[in-house]
Amino acid sequence: MLRPFWKRPAAVPPAAVDKDKIPAHIAIIMDGNGRWAAARNLPRSAGHREGARNFRRIAGHCKDIGVKYLTVYAFSTENWKRPREEVDTIMGLFREYLQEAAEELKTHNIQIRVLGDLTIFHGELRRLIDEVQAMNHREGALIANLAVNYGGRAELVRAANAAAAQKQGPLTERDIEAQLYTAGQPEPDLIIRPSGEYRLSGFLLWQCAYSELYFTDVLWPDFTPEHLDAAIAAYQQRSRRYGGLS
Ligand code: FPP
Repeated sequence: MLRPFWKRPAAVPPAAVDKDKIPAHIAIIMDGNGRWAAARNLPRSAGHREGARNFRRIAGHCKDIGVKYLTVYAFSTENWKRPREEVDTIMGLFREYLQEAAEELKTHNIQIRVLGDLTIFHGELRRLIDEVQAMNHREGALIANLAVNYGGRAELVRAANAAAAQKQGPLTERDIEAQLYTAGQPEPDLIIRPSGEYRLSGFLLWQCAYSELYFTDVLWPDFTPEHLDAAIAAYQQRSRRYGGLS
């Protein structure tokens, strides 16, 4: 559906992206769905639906330009405090996407993984999550990590306990890393938060240590592949020193 021009986000000038320096891992806090809907007198659920649609669009773009990992914050451990109807909508969108997982892998070469405390999920949703997690026989060109019932502090507590259960004596960073939901994956090079909020809200607390952060006022449903290119171009201008001098 073509939106009237006054509801379309301002066009972004094409960004000069260096195709040889594409970040391997991009993480996004998909924020602003509620405000997007309110601005149109729509229920918040419509914003989340548009947000889920946009996730597919951005995931496709990430794959096309050679990003290997895309991690999105879809539902935090705190989001359960939202009204029941809103929680149900987000879970419904999550379920719909999981149902497409086999097709997503076969047709679009995108492999889905779910990060977070999954013990809370039961019944059909849990079965779907397990099925998706088991689809490891073939790795997609893009790994799409959906962080659901995810909290960075909870992830660290869990990782520390798991590491301590496996090893006596002092733990190392590697011991903790091996127990993170993202174990085996590179840390995010670039973390993007749209919607004009300037915080990480517990997202990837360990993994973000040397990530480049990018904030924009654009609301998530309006965040286009061109906005992503602009974020990547900005990232490519940064000097990453990891605490060293060059
Ligand atoms: C934050 O915006 C967004 C969420 C809490 C939910 C995000 C979930 C989706 C986009 C759907 C997930 C499904 C898939 C397939 C990944 P907000 O509601 O806090 O917005 P506001 O700050 O404007 O109110």
